[in-house]
Amino acid sequence: MSPATARLLVADDARDILDALEILFRSEGYEVETATSPLAVVAAVGERDFDALLMDMNYMRDTTGGREGLDLLTRLQAMDATLPVVVMTAWGSIVGAVEALRRGARDYIQKPFDNERLLHVVRTQVELGRAIRRSQRLESENLALRATGAPALIAQSAAMQPVLRLMERIGPSDANALITGEHGTGKEVVAAWLHAASPRAARAMVTVNLGGLAEGVFESELFGHAKGAFTDAKADRAGRFELADQSTLFLDEIANLTLTQQAKLLRVLQEGEFERVGSSKTRRVDVRIIAATNADVRAEVAAGRFREDLFFRLNTVEIHLPPLRERREDLPLLAAHFLAQSAARYRRSVAGFAPDAMRALLEYAWPGNVRELAHAIERATLLAEGGLVTAAELNFRPISEVSPRIEDLSLEEVERLLITKALARHEGNVTLAAQALGLSRSALYRRLQRHGL
Ligand SMILES: Nc1ncnc2c1ncn2[C@@H]1O[C@H](COP(=O)(O)OP(=O)(O)OP(=O)(O)O)[C@@H](O)[C@H]1O
Ligand SMILES: [Mg+2]
Repeated sequence: MSPATARLLVADDARDILDALEILFRSEGYEVETATSPLAVVAAVGERDFDALLMDMNYMRDTTGGREGLDLLTRLQAMDATLPVVVMTAWGSIVGAVEALRRGARDYIQKPFDNERLLHVVRTQVELGRAIRRSQRLESENLALRATGAPALIAQSAAMQPVLRLMERIGPSDANALITGEHGTGKEVVAAWLHAASPRAARAMVTVNLGGLAEGVFESELFGHAKGAFTDAKADRAGRFELADQSTLFLDEIANLTLTQQAKLLRVLQEGEFERVGSSKTRRVDVRIIAATNADVRAEVAAGRFREDLFFRLNTVEIHLPPLRERREDLPLLAAHFLAQSAARYRRSVAGFAPDAMRALLEYAWPGNVRELAHAIERATLLAEGGLVTAAELNFRPISEVSPRIEDLSLEEVERLLITKALARHEGNVTLAAQALGLSRSALYRRLQRHGL
């Protein structure tokens, strides 16, 4: 382990598991803190820096859906995207693991876990996280050296051509744009690109992550407040709308707004006017709105969870980013881009990908899209022992192969798929496959019969 003691936060609502994990990691020299609820995790992360968070996906309120765990991941991404998060999922909860990776978790481990593997996963993430944070510190110290203007946007594939043409057309305009697409498809990159292509580029784009805003904070964050408007309002404060005057306001995770918040936002968009909380003075600003979401907003509208009038205000132009698996031609370029970036950042002389690695990259399903690719390559760059990244260093695990359509499968089909895969992995050895699946041999045989395998 690196010189300084690593500080680990472990979250699970089962006290016995927490105790076991605490003992395990302490014996390996970690400083360990524990949390038994998502709220406690948020509080701890808000208070101090951790080298990694190891968290269970399921908590009391909702013990199998993993909803609370997923919400927590989104929240944590907004608080500190550099904190490496490893999630623990119940055995068989493939959907949960894949969704967690989509939301920015760095890795996952299935319960019941193997201690060696758990230690290895956490150790890797601690080292990675430290490297990432170190390089970010250097970068922010060298702000002046950083390329200005539009961020890198790699898009040579056929699927991206209409997107690029649309971006070029509307970039320079004042049109509001709604950017949609799965997690990690590059929505934020596109927003930054649109802003940089506009006459507003002289001023910085202002971003608000609406997914990370607590209910009570929304209005004052967006519209500002007057001194004394509420207990903590010690001074007058401008909101993001004012800060974005003559610039672009990027409203990220727009589908997370409650209906009340939507009504407040709509009013500003319609009238171009607002008041700071606790003030009666009406203010006007000149702001271009770019919004983004990974939700299906039309479905949200149909379900009555998103106001149609607000939707129409936001999507003057809609830019939909296809998932990475639908633009695989971009993979070699993207992979080379991230490799060059990580190699320079970490001063590693890794020049490219071995053929088996490139094949693995091209075949993989990329449920977490470009972000997952960036993470995978960053990790591989750090792990690479030779001049080329090998398939083994990419460290793909079978879970991913089944991920893209897993949502469409029934439980029975998923079971069948997992059994087939476990058997394939262990070359037909039933004992090993049963072990891997957490079943007894006879239980696996019964299932083989049932599925006609
Ligand atoms: N076409 C691209 N070319 C180069 N880098 C890209 C591209 N698309 C995405 N990236 C990089 O991938 C990462 C994820 O992109 P981004 O944050 O824009 O995704 P997102 O769609 O906003 O995801 P989320 O829904 O999770 O917020 C970033 O590091 C970004 O720089
Ligand atoms: Mg984003």
